[in-house]
Amino acid sequence: MLNRITVVGAGNVGATTAQRLAEKELARQIVLVDVIDGVPQGKGLDLWESAPIEGFDSRLVGTNDYAATENSDIVVITAGIARKPGMSRDDLLNTNAGIVKQVSEHVKRSSPNAIVIVVSNPLDVMSWVAMKTTGFPRERVIGMAGVLDTARFRSFIAEALDVSVRDIQAMVLGGHGDTMVPLLSYTSVSGIPVTQLLDKAKLDAIVQRTRGGGGEIVKFLKTGSAYYAPSSAAVQMCEAIAFDQKRILPCAAWLQGEYGHEGIFLGVPCKLGRSGLEQILQVTLTDEERSALAKSADAVREPMAAVSL
Ligand code: APR
Repeated sequence: MLNRITVVGAGNVGATTAQRLAEKELARQIVLVDVIDGVPQGKGLDLWESAPIEGFDSRLVGTNDYAATENSDIVVITAGIARKPGMSRDDLLNTNAGIVKQVSEHVKRSSPNAIVIVVSNPLDVMSWVAMKTTGFPRERVIGMAGVLDTARFRSFIAEALDVSVRDIQAMVLGGHGDTMVPLLSYTSVSGIPVTQLLDKAKLDAIVQRTRGGGGEIVKFLKTGSAYYAPSSAAVQMCEAIAFDQKRILPCAAWLQGEYGHEGIFLGVPCKLGRSGLEQILQVTLTDEERSALAKSADAVREPMAAVSL
């Protein structure tokens, strides 16, 4: 069990993340931080009061003050505004860049050794804002997107085949947007290539639904964006780090030449352990996948260039 995990942003994603972290007892203390007076305190207390029923000993604390977050082992950044219908993730760019920058300055001062997991959107650009502002090495700034996109992809495949989600292995790479790259060549059902079980038209439809997976939820909710699956994904990354699991998960990592790209965050297969990002795995891609990844990288570079830090 880690000593302390901080979740910044006590909104939908942040509060649900804190709940899942506590129920899995990933740290002795889970600190929820927000700028709104009373919200992190109220949600933190409410969650803590569920502990006797759920049977967890992680202590939840809500605060507006980073003093309570000192020396966190992991900081999950969910602060920012969420999408409304008709908005793309890039529409959040400048507002969230300012917020993530401010949060990262606090994290740098109060938890200089933390591993930062970025959830705020547009994800790949916000991960860069966090890395640049904290000055932390790439091993300690990781973006949450691929685990979520892959979970959506896996759930749609399981639904189409009427099989357990547990038996779907898959990997979605690239940026967290419409250009993400679900790797059909590495998607299997208990080792059986998915292309043997679903025809091209069905697979294409699933790929498209995965790309628009976040938007599908926004359209239903109307007042905000997804948070159950995003919080599950962030917590799976925390778990891999807390227990030094060396899990291979698709995460947004700062590329230094891997897959032919550098100077951007992009979703790639990562090994996560107690030191954070321990390795980027470079797998062989088909020509189609490689060019889709290049297109996705361009889609990340463009909003990045629009942010001045
Ligand atoms: N410091 C801390 N918290 C902040 C700050 C800040 N500087 N600015 C805003 N917040 C808080 C808000 O007060 C709010 O409570 O961030 C919270 C965001 O919560 P929601 O509006 O419910 O948004 P949520 O659905 O949780 O999404 C948060 O995660 O998935 C992404 O695209 C999503 O960027 C969005 C983020």
